[in-house]
Amino acid sequence: MQTNRLSQEMSIALNSQVTLEAFAAQVYLMLSSWADDAGLDGISAFLLKHSQEERVHMAKIMEYIQERGGKVTIEAIPKPEPEPKNAQECFETVLKQEIENSEAIYKLVDLSMAEKDWATFNFLQWLVAEQREEEKLALTLLDKVNLAGGKEASYASIYELNKDIGGTGQEFPTADEENPLE
Ligand SMILES: [Fe+2]
Ligand SMILES: [Fe+2]
Repeated sequence: MQTNRLSQEMSIALNSQVTLEAFAAQVYLMLSSWADDAGLDGISAFLLKHSQEERVHMAKIMEYIQERGGKVTIEAIPKPEPEPKNAQECFETVLKQEIENSEAIYKLVDLSMAEKDWATFNFLQWLVAEQREEEKLALTLLDKVNLAGGKEASYASIYELNKDIGGTGQEFPTADEENPLE
């Protein structure tokens, strides 16, 4: 009896999203390490915490694939690059990465609609909402960097920025609280 409730195309697409979330976590780790090396301990801590959030997304998608009777295949994660040269480039990378992730999730939603796979469509709404919050956060942080002077920011304003971002909570419910599967 066929127990896999996901189409082959959907399985492949959801598996790619698992890899993409793992890649997003690696991007945040790379940025966090850069920030630490640049003496930006607050920014580094924020990015490290956010990397964990991406791992939670990855785990939730894996859980969903398995719940539907599908098989997760773990693929290689590409190296995240290039390293940023300053805080502005760092947060531009964050926003760009989040937008690319949203676009990938929109494609999954398109596929679920085309297949009339309403269970997957319903699951994906959680990810869509999550991405909306993450884009909002990324945009807010980039605004702060620009306000601090962007690439021309003085040491004094970078000092304040580092402190401020270090105190930024993950201003959205964690994936665990939002998890529709539990
Ligand atoms: Fe994510
Ligand atoms: Fe994200």
